[in-house]
Amino acid sequence: MIEFKEVNKVFRDGFHALKNITFKVEEGELLVLIGPSGSGKTTTMRMINRLIEPTKGTITIEGKDISKEDPVKLRRTIGYVIQQIGLLPHMTIKENVSLVPRLMKWKKERYIDKVDELMHMVGLDPEMFGERYPSELSGGQQQRIGVIRALAAEPKIILMDEPFSALDPISREQLQDELVRLQRDIQKTIVFVTHDMDEALKIADRICIMKDGEVVQLDTPENIIRRPANEFVRSFIGEDRLQESDSISFPKLTKLMVPAVTAGENRRLAESLKMIRNKRVNSLVVVNDQNVFQQPAARIRSPLPGKTSQSRRSWFTLWGI
Ligand SMILES: Nc1ncnc2c1ncn2[C@@H]1O[C@H](COP(=O)(O)OP(=O)(O)O)[C@@H](O)[C@H]1O
Ligand SMILES: [Mg+2]
Repeated sequence: MIEFKEVNKVFRDGFHALKNITFKVEEGELLVLIGPSGSGKTTTMRMINRLIEPTKGTITIEGKDISKEDPVKLRRTIGYVIQQIGLLPHMTIKENVSLVPRLMKWKKERYIDKVDELMHMVGLDPEMFGERYPSELSGGQQQRIGVIRALAAEPKIILMDEPFSALDPISREQLQDELVRLQRDIQKTIVFVTHDMDEALKIADRICIMKDGEVVQLDTPENIIRRPANEFVRSFIGEDRLQESDSISFPKLTKLMVPAVTAGENRRLAESLKMIRNKRVNSLVVVNDQNVFQQPAARIRSPLPGKTSQSRRSWFTLWGI
């Protein structure tokens, strides 16, 4: 869908911000660009809607070189959501959401229906919120409007540059969940910039890790965690997450097992029960003096001398053996 080939950016001051960036974004995929501040994420993203032009290299969308297209028309076919929300303060919510469709000269009924549909999709009743001004909404509500405004003209591609990072942690999590849910329905091609690895792992189909203007690794969240390309990626993911993922995919046996407590074969019941209580286990493994496992029914001495084997078995049941 979107393809970068050997894209370089040298800014006017001579700073080489992007070095041979080559990657593809598949149709319907949510690709996260992640990396430390200054690694070139925003520069990469803004090239897709031609807010920044490459110094060298080509970017194609559906096979077409975008440098040959009209940038204004191009931008209208690409939704764009930024951190600073960017709603127009003097326009109502409905006017904000319908902005691009109106610029594209959609019929009134069509864009009114679209605004209603989108507001319902993010749980904001158009009757209640449609005529309000942005300042009359919470930060989280405003950013929901920012997201649906980017969807209003039915673009195939949506660019999102740290859209949730200015929000409080609870709103941020809610919006991430909503985006995942929304994306299941709308299946847009989304390029999403963040510096937050938790966010990336939660929402991404694939993650592109950048450092100093280069792509360090591009893969699914699972593969990045299982096989970090180098030390930088490892440290960026963080040891905690690496270990956590180990225990999710391959739990260590010792974590699953209750440690076995052994008892000599000649041990009597009262002593054994005491051991069970003290060691906080619900069974004992009976061993002989060479520490070899013994079949309990054959080996444990009857706690009640002279009783039948039936009652002996019930003791074993009590012991959980
Ligand atoms: N117009 C510009 N002129 C010179 N350097 C710039 C310009 N815009 C961005 N940069 C530099 O390019 C690098 C990448 O910036 P950016 O893409 O915004 O990074 P990120 O979004 O990953 O934080 C940074 O070092 C930044 O200072
Ligand atoms: Mg940025």
